[in-house]
Amino acid sequence: MNLQPGAERANPLNRIIDAALQREGGWLPFDRFMALALYSPGLGYYANASAKFGHLPSSGSDFVTAPELSPLFGQSLAAAVDDALSHTATRDVWEFGAGSGALAQQLLTALGDRVDTYSIVDLSGTLRERQQTALASWGDKVRWLSELPATMQGVVVGNEVLDAMPVKLLARTAGQWFERGVARGPDGTLHYADQPTELRPPVLIEGEHDYLTEIHPQAEAFVATLADRLTRGAAFFLDYGFPEAEYYHPQRHMGTVMCHQGHLVDGNPLVAVGAKDITAHVNFTGVALAGQEAGLAVLGYCNQARFLINCGLVAKLESASVQERALAARLIHEHEMGELFKVIGFCAGVEPWDSVGFREGDRTHTL
Ligand SMILES: C[S@@+](CC[C@H](N)C(=O)[O-])C[C@H]1O[C@@H](n2cnc3c(N)ncnc32)[C@H](O)[C@@H]1O
Repeated sequence: MNLQPGAERANPLNRIIDAALQREGGWLPFDRFMALALYSPGLGYYANASAKFGHLPSSGSDFVTAPELSPLFGQSLAAAVDDALSHTATRDVWEFGAGSGALAQQLLTALGDRVDTYSIVDLSGTLRERQQTALASWGDKVRWLSELPATMQGVVVGNEVLDAMPVKLLARTAGQWFERGVARGPDGTLHYADQPTELRPPVLIEGEHDYLTEIHPQAEAFVATLADRLTRGAAFFLDYGFPEAEYYHPQRHMGTVMCHQGHLVDGNPLVAVGAKDITAHVNFTGVALAGQEAGLAVLGYCNQARFLINCGLVAKLESASVQERALAARLIHEHEMGELFKVIGFCAGVEPWDSVGFREGDRTHTL
């Protein structure tokens, strides 16, 4: 579904967006728009049947994620999960946003009998079907939930899930803060529209220059809900992002919202709605605070390269084929996923321990 500008009017998501615009008086906050664009049943990017994840555009995919790139990702993460299962004396794994099911396959294979139940929570019905096909051979060990149970125990993982949660846009223009939303113009195209707001970024942005950024109430509410439900266990979230001092740096004045389509990146979420992924980087300080305020303890925070190396990736590379090695190296190269991607770990119901993934290079102090 590669929508050209002229085809925008015929985009089936228009009906849904227009109904929402009408209900809200002609203006939708960006997070509401992003939720409709990504998750509207059957039509939103994560709800439609497009390929999404894959190595190359020729597969019809839009981007590649770490578990799609190399099975050594999940095999390495398994060392941290195994360590956390032992320290928390639990036997269940929970995955949020399981995509194609690749990470689940890697973890289930590596952890074997260490895991009793592998529970998947995904907002996307079409991805759930894909996961069910990919994981059929695991039988009843894998189950799918449409919402979180009242209490959970075990180890939670989520790769590139927090970046897929809708964000609010805040724009400082001529010294005034506005919430940036979406409206439809007389020519039928969507455009940005700003409204005065009391909302502010979590830190003061130095300077008087015009500035665009995001805040992440949904990702933070998600972590708080998880904290509320997880009575004993640990959680690891891997994603691209920064601590707040870097996120809200005065020079990062264009925000971090990005779209992915056909392995190209662009900055305009208002065209080809539903045909491309929309993401924002993660504010890991906000995630850490949301977890802590709701009762989780931070186990550690570091970049993905350090985390995977701590988990034994280098030894695994040595026994891999040249081709496997080249792909897995992208997980840790600084200019690929090694530095931009970070890992945050939490624990619940137990004292924090020297978790294997954060043993060297822990940067919790930067949060
Ligand atoms: C960028 S994809 C990542 C998929 C997979 N983890 C991977 O690494 O290939 C984001 C996934 O998060 C899911 N997602 C977004 N918000 C979610 C939420 N609140 N609960 C569960 N899944 C969610 C989406 O449906 C999608 O499967």
